[in-house]
Amino acid sequence: MRALGRRATAVVAVGVLACSAAAAQEVPAPPAGASEQVLSGARLYQQHCALCHGPKGRDANVFPRPIWGPGHDIAKFGSAKGLFEYLQMLMPFDNPAKVDDAGKTAIVAYMLVRNGNVKANVSMPRGGDQTGIR
Ligand code: HEC
Repeated sequence: MRALGRRATAVVAVGVLACSAAAAQEVPAPPAGASEQVLSGARLYQQHCALCHGPKGRDANVFPRPIWGPGHDIAKFGSAKGLFEYLQMLMPFDNPAKVDDAGKTAIVAYMLVRNGNVKANVSMPRGGDQTGIR
C-alpha cells in the first residue's frame, strides 16, 4: 500500500510540473483592433485555461485535442451561447466557479476570434449569442 501511495504522489507531481511548463508559455496576442472584451478573454484564458489546454488551445498535456482552429471539435456546442453554457457548467475543469459569467463570455469571444467566427472587435452580450461555430 505504502509503495503504491508514493508512486501515485510521484505521478501527480510530474503532472503538475508538465502543466506549469505549458502555462508558462504566452497566449498569442489577439489581432490588432481587438475589443476590451477579447483582450480580457485572452488574459483570462492564459490565467485559467492554458494550464490544461495550452497557450494555443492545442497540444497540451492534459487535453491535447484542439479547442479552436484546425481539427477542433467545438462546433458541437452550436453557438457562442452553447459554448458559454458548457464553460459555465464544466470549465475551468478544476473549479468552474473560478471565472464569473462576464469572464466566461470574454473567453468565448476570444476563442471564437481565434476560431475565425467573429471579428476581433466583437462585443458579445453576457452569456454569449447565436453566433454559429464552424
Ligand atoms: C484542470 C484542467 C483544465 C482546465 C484548467 C480547463 N480545462 Fe477545459 N477540459 C479539460 C478536460 C479534462 C476536458 C475534457 C472533459 C470531458 O471530456 O468531459 C476539457 C474540455 C474542454 C472543452 C471541450 C473540448 C472538446 O472538444 O470536447 C472546452 C471547449 C474547454 N475544455 C475549454 C476550457 C476553457 C475555456 C477553460 C478555461 C476557462 C478550460 N477549459 C479550463 C481540462 C481543463
